[in-house]
Amino acid sequence: MSTTFTIAIDGPAGAGKGTLARRLADHYRLNLLDTGLTYRAVAHALLQLGLPLDNVSAAETAARQVDLAKLDRSVLSAHAVGEAASKVAVFPSVRRILVEKQRDFAKAPPGAVLDGRDIGTVVCPDADIKLYVTATAEVRAKRRLDEIESIGGTANFNEILADIVRRDERDMGRADSPLKPAADAHLLDTSQMAIEAAFLAARAIIDDALAKRNEA
Ligand code: C5P
Repeated sequence: MSTTFTIAIDGPAGAGKGTLARRLADHYRLNLLDTGLTYRAVAHALLQLGLPLDNVSAAETAARQVDLAKLDRSVLSAHAVGEAASKVAVFPSVRRILVEKQRDFAKAPPGAVLDGRDIGTVVCPDADIKLYVTATAEVRAKRRLDEIESIGGTANFNEILADIVRRDERDMGRADSPLKPAADAHLLDTSQMAIEAAFLAARAIIDDALAKRNEA
């Protein structure tokens, strides 16, 4: 039996997978990697250098330089960086470089929770648990608006919704590693569910798998 335990969490932007991943990593004492930050780091490097986002060789160089231990969420979480990340994420050569780093991370004991778009399908197809976390675009847009307003910002609901729909289309429509649930993923629709309920639902699925694994 393998010595690591891997939980793969995929889903569109704003579905709550990041919070869920953090809660599960804490609860099961696993390492945590938000793979979106790796694509964001590449996009951020190109933006800093003033290079176009379709400069594939510069994106490859930036991808090679990504250090998983040095991903700075406070710099990378900007909305524009997320939008730019989805543009560099269409390039297969950039994905290959980042996926290799992500797989190495997952292999380290005691295992990890990874969240992204292609974890269950491409990065860790043999993950012990695969969750696909989703919610309607309207619910995700409303959550984002609440988040912005909670820190004193202002934004327009329809603009946020249009951004979310555009990002979904780009992530689901790309040729390499499009966002889709793995055939063996458990679906968690958080449209009508608070994060605590999603956490409890995920724990039930994981505890069941752990019990079966211990019996084996
Ligand atoms: O999850 P986050 O919003 O940080 O991801 C930013 C972008 O990075 C996504 O819209 C997607 O295009 C890309 N991404 C990806 N594969 C992953 C994680 C993120 O293509 N595993």
